[in-house]
Amino acid sequence: MLETGALHWSGDLTNFDALIDEVLVSRMARVKPGPLHAKAFARWVDALPAPRPSTPTDTDAITKGSALFHDATIGCATCHAGPKLTNSSLADIGKGPGLKVPSLVGVAARAPFMHDGCAATLADRFGACGGTAHGSTASLTPDQVSSLVAYMESL
Ligand code: HEC
Repeated sequence: MLETGALHWSGDLTNFDALIDEVLVSRMARVKPGPLHAKAFARWVDALPAPRPSTPTDTDAITKGSALFHDATIGCATCHAGPKLTNSSLADIGKGPGLKVPSLVGVAARAPFMHDGCAATLADRFGACGGTAHGSTASLTPDQVSSLVAYMESL
């Protein structure tokens, strides 16, 4: 969390201190912690483990999905890049200007997906709610979408 740049879907909170001000103090009406407590709080949140994926059943689909995900013509890994599967930037994927590229680590455990929760399943992300400029997905076959979903369920 601490290494993925600005926080929140719109990246409007530049760091964890800004998040404390907005969420804890402003929205939840709590007392602002001192700097040492704020730092410890940030480290604790950062250390929370991502949900573990369930044991994969279809390893063939995961392998195919991984290849598609990293295929430059489809483009997923240009934004969902590196070990945290985010380039820590804002991107316009046709869902409004500048949304934070989310990490996909443990993604399967946090449905519904997308900032507006429009995708009940990972497969729904490839439909209309996924955005019009969200990777080159128009020519994916249903089988390829299933493989990409299997791959994302393994992250
Ligand atoms: C141009 C950068 C970019 C590319 C390319 C890209 N994404 Fe994303 N992705 C984003 C952004 C930004 C969001 C957040 C958008 C939103 O929530 O409305 C997102 C959201 C997601 C989500 C929802 C995550 C969540 O926590 O709700 C999934 C799943 C996802 N992308 C998968 C993919 C896949 C699979 C590909 C390739 C087909 C891909 N993305 C290509 C930028 C990108």
